[in-house]
Amino acid sequence: MAICDYANQYVCDLVAYQTGKPIEETARELGIDAETIVKVASNENPLGPSPKAVEAMQEALKESHIYPDGGGYKLRTAIAEQQEVDIENVILGNGSNEIIELLCHSFLNPKAELIAAEHAFVVYKLMATLFGAKYVEVPDPGFIHDLEGMANAITEDTRLLFIANPNNPTGTLVKQAEIDAFMAKVPDHVVVVFDEAYFEFLHEPLDTIKFVKEGKNVVILRTCSKIHGLAALRIGYGIASKNVAAILQKARQPFNANAIAQAGALAALADEEHRLNTRDINDQGLAFYEAELPKLKIPYVKSYANFVMCDVGDGDFVFQEMLKRGVIVRAMRGYKLPGWVRISIGTPEQNVRVLEVLTEVLALRDSA
Ligand SMILES: Cc1ncc(COP(=O)(O)O)c(C=O)c1O
Repeated sequence: MAICDYANQYVCDLVAYQTGKPIEETARELGIDAETIVKVASNENPLGPSPKAVEAMQEALKESHIYPDGGGYKLRTAIAEQQEVDIENVILGNGSNEIIELLCHSFLNPKAELIAAEHAFVVYKLMATLFGAKYVEVPDPGFIHDLEGMANAITEDTRLLFIANPNNPTGTLVKQAEIDAFMAKVPDHVVVVFDEAYFEFLHEPLDTIKFVKEGKNVVILRTCSKIHGLAALRIGYGIASKNVAAILQKARQPFNANAIAQAGALAALADEEHRLNTRDINDQGLAFYEAELPKLKIPYVKSYANFVMCDVGDGDFVFQEMLKRGVIVRAMRGYKLPGWVRISIGTPEQNVRVLEVLTEVLALRDSA
């Protein structure tokens, strides 16, 4: 008997999420020093963690024998103050990915539908599959979410609708006016999730928290994994209308956000200097790629986040060949874009190295 004859059918249907290739694994496979490898595959912060967060976490380590505050009082209070909402509007997650899962636990079943854009963050599809729900994919011309199309796709059975803004892996943004027009059309039985993992990289104002304040069925997801540089800690948060937040609180494990991560996040969210330095270096990196990719005749999608997705013709080939040269990018086959790769913005030195290696690999591709 095969395991899937008796395991949960929805789990058997899953294609496991492919993470960016780890540096240590690459170093082992290539037999080279991990220090020489550049990983630009997971949209991490090239400046590292907020130093203030590191200090706070070192202090918190001394209390590692005590269970965390399961209610996350200090961190949720700080987030509530920062966002001008009440603590009851805030939920913590083991990464914002966990809150995506909690949303699916809370709102999906095999009769329900989840709507997302065609090239949206892939975890939404994985989670819809895991809960046996119908995944409704709305085309996104030019890789930009079509909010009108998404509103038109809503049915009686729709429970969740995800807008990743900026979106991963495309880096595209939907603007405030479109969001406002869209929200006016959404019925109450649909929870709209604004996944804003890359929000802090934006320069344009974007206000989705106002929908929470208006009591609409919305959740805004943010993470400490990106601009705050705490990806290893697994800490993210959601700002939701109180009725939605209360359901999510029921669905979570008692100590889902660990104490070290809570302490780090608290310090990181207050570290304006690190946030602005990271955004500056990211702006420089985006400008670098916008100037250099056209010289290599590589089409790219204008990005509002900390990565750029570009059409290199054969994404798997470019990924493999760059890997051999110690640079880890992300191939986009999993997003039905086999010609593309996604490159995270690094430090200026890393960006130069990535471009050099990319240039070398493209020459190899053209001579093959
Ligand atoms: C759009 C988007 N949402 C959510 C996440 C999950 O982030 P985390 O679980 O690290 O908070 C990511 C990570 O890459 C992302 O790109």
